[in-house]
Amino acid sequence: MRKKLIIGNWKMHGTLPFVAEYLGALLQGFSPIKHADMVLLPPYVFLADTAKHLKETPIKWGAQNLAAEKAGAYTGEISGEMLAEFGCHYVIVGHSERRTLYHETDVEVFQKLTRAQEAGLTPILCVGESLTEREQELTFATLDRQLALLLQADVQKLEKTVIAYEPIWAIGTGKTASPEQVQAVHAYIRAKITAINADLANKICIIYGGSVKANNAKTLLAMNDIDGALVGGASLNPQEFLEIYRCS
Ligand code: PGA
Repeated sequence: MRKKLIIGNWKMHGTLPFVAEYLGALLQGFSPIKHADMVLLPPYVFLADTAKHLKETPIKWGAQNLAAEKAGAYTGEISGEMLAEFGCHYVIVGHSERRTLYHETDVEVFQKLTRAQEAGLTPILCVGESLTEREQELTFATLDRQLALLLQADVQKLEKTVIAYEPIWAIGTGKTASPEQVQAVHAYIRAKITAINADLANKICIIYGGSVKANNAKTLLAMNDIDGALVGGASLNPQEFLEIYRCS
């Protein structure tokens, strides 16, 4: 059976006092669930503090982005190796905010995925259609395009990857995709992987993101192919994030 994975993406939120208060509250309310892992993705500058608080706990942490290059003259960038030094286990690649606001292409996203794996990190590859694409029935075509490089690569790249389906129209909008809509997309993604390697398809973790809250997590996480949640806004409240984790 696949474990559930509940990931909190803080985006560009927080302060040092917030981190201390948040992690204190989280650890106070946290009791590990055997079949579910919890992961926090704070901004880079809070990774050291996060690591200090979480290092003796089962909660893992990671980052929201990494450089497409290994090292060198790339002012302002952070490499996968640097993240690994801070004890990161996971890193997001291809979040729709990066694709839209910073014009990251599928090729760049795949480079980042490769860099993450080289550094021993598990990439969380975000895919998902815009509202226009959904309305024009281009959801599956969009996913095909976003997954093409991953599915053409060697199987090893698939092995240590989390796929996060995040329909853009559901992110930060309060409009959650229905459990049935999400299930249909996740089943589609898993079927594509089955065509390459059935055993791997059975193991790969496909999570959903887009306005996941404590009040909708249970029905989403109950679906067959929804292996977890990538939580933005609601992960900023430790009590709500704990409640989502408990829905696993
Ligand atoms: P949201 O964000 O939960 O605030 O919709 C999800 C995400 O962007 O990962």
